[in-house]
Amino acid sequence: MNPEVLLSVQDLHVSFGAVEAVRGLSFDVREGEVLAVVGESGAGKSLTARALLGMPPREATVTGSVRMGSYELVGARHSVRAALWGRRLALVPQDALSALSPVHPVADQLAAAVRSVDRVSRKAARARAVAALEEVGIAADQARAYPHEFSGGMRQRAVIAMAMLHSPALVVADEPTTAQDPETQRQILDLLAHRSEATGTTLVLVTHDLPTVREHADRVLVMYAGRLVEEGPVEEVFARPRAPYTAGLLASAPRKGRGAVTSSGSAAGRDQPQRTRRQRLPSIPGTPPNPSDLPLGCAFAPRCPLADATRCRTERPEPETHDGRTVACHRWRELPDHPAELFLESV
Ligand SMILES: Nc1ncnc2c1ncn2[C@@H]1O[C@H](COP(=O)(O)OP(=O)(O)OP(=O)(O)O)[C@@H](O)[C@H]1O
Ligand SMILES: [Mg+2]
Repeated sequence: MNPEVLLSVQDLHVSFGAVEAVRGLSFDVREGEVLAVVGESGAGKSLTARALLGMPPREATVTGSVRMGSYELVGARHSVRAALWGRRLALVPQDALSALSPVHPVADQLAAAVRSVDRVSRKAARARAVAALEEVGIAADQARAYPHEFSGGMRQRAVIAMAMLHSPALVVADEPTTAQDPETQRQILDLLAHRSEATGTTLVLVTHDLPTVREHADRVLVMYAGRLVEEGPVEEVFARPRAPYTAGLLASAPRKGRGAVTSSGSAAGRDQPQRTRRQRLPSIPGTPPNPSDLPLGCAFAPRCPLADATRCRTERPEPETHDGRTVACHRWRELPDHPAELFLESV
C-alpha cells in the first residue's frame, strides 16, 4: 500500500437484507488530508462513514475491505476497535447533545474520555480536559457546566474537543453542524478544520455544504445511490466537474448555502458568472432512486440530461481514473463547458 494512504477502502458493500445501500465503493484516504464526502440524502454517506470507523449498524451486512495500516475494520472484533478507538480513529457526531451525557459536567466527561484511553491520574485527566476545551474556545469556568447549560454551538465544540483528545490519526465528522444556524456552522467547520490541521489529523467530512467543501477540503468524493460518481482534488472538481451529477450538485448549491456564502465571501457560484439574478437557479430534476428499486444501468440516468437511451440505461458505469481524477460515467467526455446550463433548462 502507498505509504501516504492512511485508510484504504476496497469494494465496500453495505446491505440490509436484499437491499444494498453502499454498492462497491473504493477510495483511499490520504495522510493529513481533508476528504469531503458529498451527495444527496440517501447516497450512503453515513453508512460509509460508519464503515470507516468499524461501526456499521448492527443489522447491516458489510463486505469488502477498510484497511488502516495492518488493521482490517470490516468485521473487526471488538478488541481491534477498542485498540483503535480514540487513539487512531474518532467520530464527531451529528448530534452533540446525544453524544454527551446529561448528568455529568462537560469537563468531567472529557476527563473520563482521557482516562478511558490513557492511564493518568484524575487530576491530570482533568487538566487535559480543561486544556482541550480551551483549545475550542470554552473557558475553564464554563467547562464545569452541564451539557444542557451550553448552547448548541458550544456542545458541538465540546464534542470536537473530545474527538481530538488523543490526536487521532483519522477523524470522521458526519454532518457535524446540521442542527446549527449558518454562522455557527461555519465557525464549527472552521474550528474542525483548524484543529485537525494543528494536530496533523486526517479528516473525512460528510457534509451538504459545498462552500465548506471548497474552503476546507483537499479532495472530494461524490456519491450517488451507494456508488462513487466522481472523486478528485476539490479545486479541479469544482472548476470542471466530469460527471453530470457533480455538475448538477454544484449548479444547485447556492440555493441552500446562500446566506453563508455571501457572509464568508467564498461563493459556490463563483464559477458561474453567466448566471444573473433574473434566471432561475438550476436544480437536478427528480429525486434519487430507492435503493430497493434501482435502475438497471447508471443509477443517475433517469435524472441525467446527458443520458443516452442505450448504454446509460443498461450498463453500470465503472469508475475510471485519468489524471488523478476518478469518474464513473459513460458520457463524461461529452459534458459541455458550462454544464450548469444543462440543469437550468431542465427546471
Ligand atoms: N439501519 C438501516 N436499515 C435499513 N436501511 C438503512 C439503514 N441505514 C441506512 N439505510 C438506508 O441506506 C441508504 C443510505 O443511508 P445513509 O444514511 O448512508 O445516507 P446518507 O447519504 O447519509 O443520507 P443523509 O444525507 O440523509 O444523511 C438510505 O436509503 C437509507 O434508507
Ligand atoms: Mg447521513
